[in-house]
Amino acid sequence: MYKDQPSNTARKVALNIVTLGAKPGMDRILPAGIVNATADLLVASGAVSATAVQWSRSRRMVWVYEAFDWMMKGQFEAFGHRKAFCERQVREGIRSGASQVLVLGAGYDTLSWRLASEFTEVNFFEIDHPGTAVLKAKGIERMGDRENLYLLAEDLGQRKLVDVLKTNRLWDTTASTVIIAEGLLMYLSPPAPQELFRQCAAMTGVGSRIAFTYVGTGADGQPDAGDWTGLVLWILKVGGEPWLWSILPEQLGGFLEEVQWTNAPDLVGSSAKHGIEYFGVAIK
Ligand SMILES: C[S@@+](CC[C@H](N)C(=O)[O-])C[C@H]1O[C@@H](n2cnc3c(N)ncnc32)[C@H](O)[C@@H]1O
Repeated sequence: MYKDQPSNTARKVALNIVTLGAKPGMDRILPAGIVNATADLLVASGAVSATAVQWSRSRRMVWVYEAFDWMMKGQFEAFGHRKAFCERQVREGIRSGASQVLVLGAGYDTLSWRLASEFTEVNFFEIDHPGTAVLKAKGIERMGDRENLYLLAEDLGQRKLVDVLKTNRLWDTTASTVIIAEGLLMYLSPPAPQELFRQCAAMTGVGSRIAFTYVGTGADGQPDAGDWTGLVLWILKVGGEPWLWSILPEQLGGFLEEVQWTNAPDLVGSSAKHGIEYFGVAIK
């Protein structure tokens, strides 16, 4: 990512969610309240103009996304499934006793903001690169702060997660915790993904879970973005947010064992792949 610039990919995911709200039938998949909250956050943070957000809510924009879906087949709707998957993981984790939620590389995601008022006894933490986190904090302040939501502006490439969390007096290293790494791991340069999982294990209590999305590895050893992988990887690279990590789904279990987590495919849900991304859950 270009240093200190707000993330373009985070803005694109959020706009995609806003447009999915205008697609018939998606209300059955998208978490309640996500479309309006995301639209409000994009405007309140200053990340996107009110006119552009309004335009994104139109059926015409649905048509535009669908016309370009060939590049990453199924990815337009996949973002909606991704949001539903992460929210389900957080709700299930809280139901099983989690008292902390940590969203890594949160972008303009509204899960913590929406759920913090519903689960007032749970502490919600978010971490993102300062370029994005500062804008988001401005938006959240305008939309209404939550007493139990803490936004941390940190570059996890520069500062270790354990150092970020151990200096935070509200973080409880013994608590059962839900960690979300949605659309993040592919942007980390190896061995940063391994390190991140290890540090998540070191900073959480028994019964914790980590829910994440990842891209598979193609025959050429590169992240596999589907039929137009070369073009997609090039666009991401020139946009300053290249994909750097991927893994074959069949190697995920072994990878997780090595980084102190246990693969829990039974917790993923009905489908482990939407668009070009796989969904994963691991427990401690
Ligand atoms: C594709 S966006 C996904 C945003 C959000 N998780 C979602 O799905 O809506 C990737 C996010 O990861 C964040 N990110 C990437 N590298 C990071 C790093 N080294 N430290 C902190 N955040 C990072 C970016 O700023 C961006 O917000």
